[in-house]
Amino acid sequence: MSGVVPDPSSPPSPSGDPNLGAVVVGEEALQARIAELGREITADFAGRPPLLVGVLKGAFMFMADLARHIDLPVEFDFMAVSSYGSSTRTSGVVRIVKDLDADLTGRHVLLVEDIVDSGLTLRYLRQNLSARNPASLDVCALLVREGAHEVAQDLRYVGFSIGSDFVVGYGLDVAERYRSLPYLCAWAGPT
Ligand code: IMP
Ligand code: MG
Repeated sequence: MSGVVPDPSSPPSPSGDPNLGAVVVGEEALQARIAELGREITADFAGRPPLLVGVLKGAFMFMADLARHIDLPVEFDFMAVSSYGSSTRTSGVVRIVKDLDADLTGRHVLLVEDIVDSGLTLRYLRQNLSARNPASLDVCALLVREGAHEVAQDLRYVGFSIGSDFVVGYGLDVAERYRSLPYLCAWAGPT
């Protein structure tokens, strides 16, 4: 039985979509870094398996891939917050749209985020989750925006630091689109 052979000539972005710019992090680089993060987390959390808390919707793909590289009996929970409308600018307002199912008391919580931009979402989540008495609370962010770190203190695990381009793909959206792309690319459409 033969597998599917990837076509090396296939374009990096869905062809004909003028709203997609350059690839910012390609699929191979993403997967290699995520495997590394998984190994680090496996070593750091040996003997105290984490509860992975994914922030929907942006972190769903990262969380799924990351978890497959953590060789520990992890558990999962999700919460959904809304900090952006359908535009590419932050509203500065964070709202819990879906709360966790799990009680965090005494748990080793690893918060999994897609991107820390202004850091407002993370600041809010940290405060909110630490008030629930976890044994520990650490953050794993796939992306951090360079220069936007004032309130983004203490990121224990970071995949990549990126520039000012708004990015889509690999879970990240603009107006709910492009989340399924297996790589990250710059948004070149209207903002
Ligand atoms: P912050 O509160 O400014 O740190 O924004 C965090 C949230 O804004 C992320 O969880 C994303 O949902 C969204 N966001 C920020 N930058 C981008 C981007 O470049 N692409 C897609 N979503 C983004
Ligand atoms: Mg978003």
